[in-house]
Amino acid sequence: MDYNTGHATSQAIDASVSVKEAVAYTDLVAAMGTGLNRQEVDFFKRNGYLVKRGVIRDDQLFANVVDHLWANVPRDILVRDDPDSWLNSPHKQWTEFDHAKVGLLHHGNWKMRSAARIGKELFLVEGIARHPSMLRVVEQFIGRPLKSLNRVRGVYAILPKPQHVTGVLGPHSDYAAGQLGAMVVAGEMPAGSGGFTVWPGSHIRLHESWDTCFGSSITDSRVRAYRKRRDEILSDTVPVETHGHPGDVIFWHHRLLHSAGINRTADAGCPIVRIIVPCDYQRGDKSFFDDNEYGPSEKYQWWIDTRNYREDVAPTATNLWAEWSI
Ligand SMILES: [Fe+2]
Repeated sequence: MDYNTGHATSQAIDASVSVKEAVAYTDLVAAMGTGLNRQEVDFFKRNGYLVKRGVIRDDQLFANVVDHLWANVPRDILVRDDPDSWLNSPHKQWTEFDHAKVGLLHHGNWKMRSAARIGKELFLVEGIARHPSMLRVVEQFIGRPLKSLNRVRGVYAILPKPQHVTGVLGPHSDYAAGQLGAMVVAGEMPAGSGGFTVWPGSHIRLHESWDTCFGSSITDSRVRAYRKRRDEILSDTVPVETHGHPGDVIFWHHRLLHSAGINRTADAGCPIVRIIVPCDYQRGDKSFFDDNEYGPSEKYQWWIDTRNYREDVAPTATNLWAEWSI
């Protein structure tokens, strides 16, 4: 099983809520390179995400990531230069064995990952998650020392939706211990190609719904409040779909409501597969433990590299940015 459907965040969205259509991200701040200026920090604190352009400049590295994705397709179910193979319900050919070996293809959403192999490759962990430019940005957000990095989540692909299919967003919170996420763009990701989609400000409004500031649990008594706040956000907030080039990175607060975007590139007649590498970061000077009920642990949510820790405290109106360096 991939997700524990009993978690509070799996509560269905109320039928009266109509999720708004996403708008394309517009670069509001000059966010190039690895520095963090005041404008960027203010944007991140207010919105819960920050798009940094050109953090990793290495065309060969990202060509290798894309090659790696295609090399792991089972039985040529998806063919790199045959978009028809992406559009013709490839998930129907994906077996349980494929799922275990290279991750689930759920409709057009392939989370390419595995417990022992995919996500732990040196060129992903050293080359991307531990790239000096990544660490420089991350340390400005959350300080040092960082928890040791053992894996990335995997290589995540969004296939274009067929023209006759109405795409829907899947807004959710990751019910994982964490602090700072980073979606590293690995292939060309133009607007409308299914970029990581976020509900700005939701990290602030959901902060007090959780049992602790950084942990993965919401006790039963808090579930209704979480669901109410989440549905309020979905009712009043326009989501933003990010886009970019290989080496751009979307940094995001781990309590942000988010979704894979809808890949409409086939509708426009130029289908592409959206490819990103998600990474997880947190401060390292803590007493970490595995949560074997909900994860992350080796048993549940093994693709998440961050963990719960014993010093974590209950959220309050004033401690959203405690343990951050911004
Ligand atoms: Fe997620």
